[in-house]
Parts: sequence; C-alpha cells; structure tokens
Amino acid sequence: MRWISVCFRNREAWPGFELAAGDLQGQFVVIQHHSDLRVPKMIITIDGPAGSGKSTISRMLASRLGFRFLDTGAMYRAIALAVLQAGNNPNEEAANAAAAAVAELKFDGDSLFLNGRDVSQEIRAPRVSEAASLVAASPAVRDRMVELQRAVGDTGSLVTEGRDQGTVVFPLAECKFFLTASVTARANRRLLDLQERGISQSLEEVRQQIEERDQRDEQRELAPMKPAADAIIVETSLLTIEQVLEQMLEQIRRRKAESGTDT
Ligand code: DC
Repeated sequence: MRWISVCFRNREAWPGFELAAGDLQGQFVVIQHHSDLRVPKMIITIDGPAGSGKSTISRMLASRLGFRFLDTGAMYRAIALAVLQAGNNPNEEAANAAAAAVAELKFDGDSLFLNGRDVSQEIRAPRVSEAASLVAASPAVRDRMVELQRAVGDTGSLVTEGRDQGTVVFPLAECKFFLTASVTARANRRLLDLQERGISQSLEEVRQQIEERDQRDEQRELAPMKPAADAIIVETSLLTIEQVLEQMLEQIRRRKAESGTDT
C-alpha cells in the first residue's frame, strides 16, 4: 500500500485521491490513491423534499465519514439564478439550456461560485427556490448537471443530496436514503432557516411554496423526486438531527459489513 503525506487545502486539486486520515480543517493530512484504498469508494445518496433535513444531515454525515459532500440542489439554484440574472424566463427551455451550457460551477468548501462569483447566499432567496424548481424540469439542464455530478462521483467517496441521486445519477450507489417529514415540520424548519438568513416570510407562505415545489418536483416527466426502489426511507418529523444521523450511520455500517468492506 502506498501512503502519501501531503500539505493541501483544496481536495479538488487531487482528483483520484481520497482522504485516509487527518483533519480536513488542518493542513497536514494523509491521502492515498483510489487504487490503493483498503475500503473501496462508497457513494451515499440522500434524496428527499425541501425541509426534510437533507442538507444538514448530508453535510454532517460527509464530515463524519470524511467523504466529499455534494449539494445538487445548489447547482440547480445557480442555473436558475443565471437565468433570472439574464432577464430570462425559467419556463423557457432555450434560455435554460443556454444558461446551463455556459455556467461554470465550482464548490469551495460550503461556498458555490457561479462564473467566478460567490452566489452561496443569493441562491437561497425564495424567488430562486421557485425558479430552480422550474429550471430543474429542463432536459438540457438536467443532462449537464448529471454529467457534472457523476464527474464528482468519479473522484472518490461521496455523500450527495438531491431529488434524483439514488434513482438516476448514481443508480449503483452503495447506500441510498430518502428523507421525508410532514409538510408542517418541513415548513417550520424552512421558516427558521429563512429567519436565520434574514428573509421574512409567513409560515403559511412557506408552507404553500413547499407544497407547490413538492408537486412540481414529484410530477415532472424527467427524473421526478421519488425514493429509489432500494432506498432506506427515514421519517424525520419527530427525530432530532443526532437521531437521524445515528440511524443512517447504523445502516451504513450494516451495508459495509454486508459487502465485506468494513475494516
Ligand atoms: O434541495 P433544494 O431545495 O436546494 O433544490 C432546489 C430545486 O432543485 C428543487 O426544487 C428541485 C431541484 N433539484 C432537482 O430537481 N434535482 C436535484 N438533484 C436537486 C434539486
């Protein structure tokens, strides 16, 4: 086995390499090439509707496992923002396709850059949430996003969250989850989230927007939001984040043991 000790801050600069030990916050970590890994690459998909706890849980899970994290909703949001900024209508396929074709998306830690500009905050605005759900029905946008997401999956172990990660993007993922929660629980969580970002909306407005988005995401022709046949469903309405995380880690341990990859 070949072990390499290096100093690096940006893991993206090391395609084909995987974190093996060390602290991502620190500078010195041990990495090894995929071909040397004792534990094969593992893809964990986490799909589900808005407010189901996906984002928080996926980030925490990725951090605990030392895997890379991918927020695919942020990618659709960034394309929606590009469409809106160009003054175009997110219902128009040609405008969506054009935006997706030229958009350069780059994640840097928790930040997302669109064509070199940090849009991490802007993409969370309610008008962008609405537009993202429309843009996400576009075949050209989905094709491009799936291509980019699979490219990230090729670089190593990954926790990826979205609507179609287990069904379309990574159908062979080792471990798939689908998180759900009641509309009331989800609306309350989303309201808190918006308040923390300084965005003011009523609970009723948030609830209505969530229901509209759910309906669009579930009923679109292409890659509709639904659990993969082999996904583990986790109902999060009455659970704390820590409880959800524990359930998921237990399932991941089980999957690793079943496949003989537990070390
Ligand atoms: O998870 P989110 O709220 O940030 O997602 C924003 C929109 O993007 C959501 O309405 C549906 C769409 N989306 C999608 O269609 N497929 C994904 N894999 C992720 C998000």
